Amino acid sequence: MNPMAIQRVSWDSGRRGGVSWRTLRRKLNQTFDWKGAIQDVLGKSISIYWAIRGGYIYVVHYPLYDGLNPITDDPFGELMEANSPIAIFASKPSHRRLPNRLKPVAIQINSSPDSPVYTPEDSQLWQMAKHVLQVADYAQTQIVEHLFKIHLYMEPICVCMHRRLSKLHPLHQLLKHHCRGLLGTNALGYPFLMAPGNGSIDKLMLIGRQGAMTMMRRAYNDLSWEKTDFLANIKKRGLWDKEKLPYFPYRDDGLLIYDSLSNMVKEFVGKYYRSNREVMIDKELQDFARDVSVGSGKVKGFPTKITSKFCLASHLVRIMWMTSAQHSVINYPVNHYGALTFNSPTKLYKDKMTAMGHYGFTNLPRSFTCMTQSALSMTLAAMHYDRLLDFVPKFPEEKGKSVLQKYHDYLDGEVTCKITQRNKQRFKDGHLPYPYLLPAWIANSIHT
Ligand SMILES: [Fe+2]
Repeated sequence: MNPMAIQRVSWDSGRRGGVSWRTLRRKLNQTFDWKGAIQDVLGKSISIYWAIRGGYIYVVHYPLYDGLNPITDDPFGELMEANSPIAIFASKPSHRRLPNRLKPVAIQINSSPDSPVYTPEDSQLWQMAKHVLQVADYAQTQIVEHLFKIHLYMEPICVCMHRRLSKLHPLHQLLKHHCRGLLGTNALGYPFLMAPGNGSIDKLMLIGRQGAMTMMRRAYNDLSWEKTDFLANIKKRGLWDKEKLPYFPYRDDGLLIYDSLSNMVKEFVGKYYRSNREVMIDKELQDFARDVSVGSGKVKGFPTKITSKFCLASHLVRIMWMTSAQHSVINYPVNHYGALTFNSPTKLYKDKMTAMGHYGFTNLPRSFTCMTQSALSMTLAAMHYDRLLDFVPKFPEEKGKSVLQKYHDYLDGEVTCKITQRNKQRFKDGHLPYPYLLPAWIANSIHT
């Protein structure tokens, strides 16, 4: 459901990306036999040093969730602690020349070194560990990746676009479709989610509204405009190795979409600006950049000046990526994976049996919470209001329209065909298909 959490474990995270093993090890339970568990998965005798150096080890963890508290007045019982799990995976090589497969090694229940660790051999407690992971992942996906990093973060950019670029400006004509519905959705959606007591987050999530606010404050300290770069994000997480991580549709299909949008905006910018100087003297554009960066927007890392055609295209593609494809991959899977409590619970309850090594239905939320979860998931993700670049016929000027039409046809034809073929192959290989980056599944804007 959330392609943004996984990272490679590296010795040299500065060069290879991902999480440094030295940093991660401080959080891990040292009494657990990590080497043995990794060897069990990889099926060969290998040291942790060489497994990490070879790029075989991956981690999913949630530092923004560390140390949070559960809500204390849940009407249906006493909640479990707000555990911040650490899941370690290994890329298992095939002996039959098939692609490697990512296999779970173990899940440490919390981020402190005295936390228990469970493996797939641990029966009911392994199921509990997976649910603990899903609880944290649901919160991270919906609060940070969806609400904060997309809905709230893109709002000032859309506001400044409407304020600073006149309706006749070609960038307004392009971006208005990517900003459609965002302000209304945020104005109605934020109180619906965050209202104390009666908001969806207080009703659904283990950490409640207070925990959600803490996560967003922590995320804000770390967020800047540079981090919206799709390519840099994959590199920073160390996920470019297609041999060790062959099944990662967000990376592979995302690259097709990102490349198409990049080439499109370069051509689009070239149609309207003959030189870098023409970019520099576009007063409306420069006012927009200043307003977003140091004016009313205060978006950290956004440039105060757009100095060249290249610079304009590189920021334009990020705005389009974030409002269309990135929102779609974060939002729409919740309908399929996040609506069913058994698959992805949003909170867990204490039960006398858990202390005795048992875990089951009595630890899961009651029917009211399950229905709230299904209703929220379907409200968020059941509606695709439009599809990527379907606004082209409405674009007023022929020179811009011809560029957009060319890439609309390319996305609808070649890119769709390629992703459809990939999904058939993924299914044959025993993986889940990934429709979320099919151009017809990508909405232009953030409207749900
Ligand atoms: Fe959304």
